[in-house]
Amino acid sequence: MESRNTQMEMDGEEVLKAQAHIWNHIFSFINSMALKCAVELRIPDAINRHGSPITLSQLISALQIHPQKSQHVHRIMRILAHSGFFLIHNKLSQQKDDDEDEDEDQVAYSLTNPSLLLLQHNPLTLSPFSLFMLDRVLIEPWLFISAWLRSDSDCRTPFETAHGKEFWEHMGSEAKDGEGFNAAMESDAKLVVSVLLEKYKSVFEGVESFVDVGGGTGSVAKAIAEAFPQMKCVVYDLPQVVAGLEGNHNLMFLQGDMFQVIPSADALLLKWILHDWTDDECVKILKKCKEAITSNGKNGKVIIIDMVVGNKSNKKNMKNNDMLMTKGKLFWDLLMMVNVGGKERDEKEWAELFQAAGFGAYNISPILGLRSLIELYP
Ligand SMILES: C[S@@+](CC[C@H](N)C(=O)[O-])C[C@H]1O[C@@H](n2cnc3c(N)ncnc32)[C@H](O)[C@@H]1O
Repeated sequence: MESRNTQMEMDGEEVLKAQAHIWNHIFSFINSMALKCAVELRIPDAINRHGSPITLSQLISALQIHPQKSQHVHRIMRILAHSGFFLIHNKLSQQKDDDEDEDEDQVAYSLTNPSLLLLQHNPLTLSPFSLFMLDRVLIEPWLFISAWLRSDSDCRTPFETAHGKEFWEHMGSEAKDGEGFNAAMESDAKLVVSVLLEKYKSVFEGVESFVDVGGGTGSVAKAIAEAFPQMKCVVYDLPQVVAGLEGNHNLMFLQGDMFQVIPSADALLLKWILHDWTDDECVKILKKCKEAITSNGKNGKVIIIDMVVGNKSNKKNMKNNDMLMTKGKLFWDLLMMVNVGGKERDEKEWAELFQAAGFGAYNISPILGLRSLIELYP
């Protein structure tokens, strides 16, 4: 009878508030799917091509929406405007209001910073990232979490439970998914390296040779090789990712397995690598890194780009932005559990890995939004 008593302790107002809380959680996926729809229809590009705020009827025509469905478009726009992807301009009153009711000719839409980052030809576009993260192949595993947690199978992840193969094996054998994944990583890499070179170029000063370990299709290494023409840069990744990619005078693609060997260099980059792996696997990778930066008597460094989950803060004192950042990190932690069997780590967990792999010092700079730049020394 305990649960009944607990229920009785809530007054009607509290019950309804709790119900609204549950509804918001149940339907959170609608935000994701509305975004996926907008990216698939290329709504940001249609607005951008128009050159000024676009009315609903102009948008419907630019998107080539079927006439029988045109009355639904404003509903997609309304929820995305509510989440900050578009501004709604009320043409009659010349007011901007993201919650206004729209009439086809009275309202017009314009872009915001997040939707500018979804433009297909923006060099920093996150469209490929959005599309792949919301692709069926990455959505299905979420349906298997509880079954996976209870199962005695030795599946590493809900991803493997759903698809029958581990993540990297799947991406190597299913060409369409592998290409989607690589394109997603490439779009993030371009954005991160542009901020890194703008804000923290000094991290590469004095580095003569550089290896991007698990460097994907090479977006980061290409930008660094261009910014430092004297630096010898290598992109090191699995054959399924780098086979057939061509380098240039200071950029080379090399196939290999980072668990076996890592090419030696003054500086190694591990961007979005260690959060894919368990602690034991990370220690193995880091030991290989240490060998690579200390070979030939050198004393190089490892540059890690990953999240550092904050210490538990008092929620009441947290600013909105901190709450958003924490939520983002918690999302990423589960994403790693579900797809690859890795995790996001707090500073103590990072320090334990570094010590276990035999490193002597590290420095964390929280300069990349949710992610930090960690410099690691032997
Ligand atoms: C999450 S992605 C990050 C890619 C890139 N560093 C970035 O941030 O854009 C992880 C990368 O590690 C690579 N990878 C996985 N296992 C590997 C291994 N055993 N040896 C080398 N690379 C590996 C994957 O192919 C993939 O490109």
